[in-house]
Amino acid sequence: MERMAKDKVEETGELEWALLPRGEISQVEGIFLEKNTCNIWDKIWNFQAKPDDLVIASYPKAGTTWTQEIVDLIQNNGDIEKSRQAPIPLRQPFLELVITTYSGINQANAMPSPRTLKTHLPVQLLPPSFWEKNCKIIYVARNAKDTMVSYYHFQRMNKTLPDPGSWDEYFETFLAGKVAWGSWYDHVKGWWRKKDSHPILYLFYEEMITDPKREIRKVMEFLGKDLTEEVLDKIVYNTSFDVMKNNPMTNYTNVRMNHNISPFMRKGVIGDWKNQFSETQNKQFNEDYEKNMADTSLLFRMEL
Ligand code: A3P
Repeated sequence: MERMAKDKVEETGELEWALLPRGEISQVEGIFLEKNTCNIWDKIWNFQAKPDDLVIASYPKAGTTWTQEIVDLIQNNGDIEKSRQAPIPLRQPFLELVITTYSGINQANAMPSPRTLKTHLPVQLLPPSFWEKNCKIIYVARNAKDTMVSYYHFQRMNKTLPDPGSWDEYFETFLAGKVAWGSWYDHVKGWWRKKDSHPILYLFYEEMITDPKREIRKVMEFLGKDLTEEVLDKIVYNTSFDVMKNNPMTNYTNVRMNHNISPFMRKGVIGDWKNQFSETQNKQFNEDYEKNMADTSLLFRMEL
């Protein structure tokens, strides 16, 4: 009986998802963004930051949610119950996101300080008020190959973004920067340059995988907190892939995402691109990468 009820719910969810229209993308200053975001761009650009706002910025699929949960738990001194009171976009508004009744801007404006805000905006599109108020920013970056694969599967399951088409098609679209939030190259390089003139903690997904406690400690110090080893260990455990995958407050179980196509918490590893890239694509990618990364000191690990 229970099983039948569960099947029914799943079927209804599938149907609801199938009927939802796909979100579209448009442009702001040459950068592709979700159309809903473009439609209220003036409101976003004029957003008023406060000096104690913290921004978590990233290119999509870099490990944003992971970083958000780490930050939230640090701010809550490791209090798991407190961090589990609401889904992550309600605890930390997603600045430029607008879907149905959710608006990151409205969410942020209604929230008491100190606020933590998420954004995927490239550095030149961050509302100027954040620079004027000298807000602290944490940026997380992930190697382009794994990001591309993760983004492809994300677009398959997430109806707020356009259909990615086939993997081969998506490979070209991504390399051309014709995806929401623009070119990966420009994003990671732009934020990397900015950290020379602004308080930005630049994290790497690959380092977080290799030594989560070390990276969590970095975040803690950046936030000016001092937590015991015991609390740090608790945060490492509660932000591990398996725990976050089973946590409804971090795993994005909602109607717009069809986790049967691909779960939001998909694999969480370094080097999954090897299962997706053809040899020819890898060669083409490497040539493109070399050209585009020639003018930066940024280095990424693409495998363990
Ligand atoms: P995969 O699709 O490669 O599995 P974002 O939050 O920026 O959208 O990033 C999502 C990616 O980060 C997904 O990558 C997801 O599995 C991974 N991720 C989320 N939480 C993680 C964690 N605790 N440990 C490792 N990877 C995590």
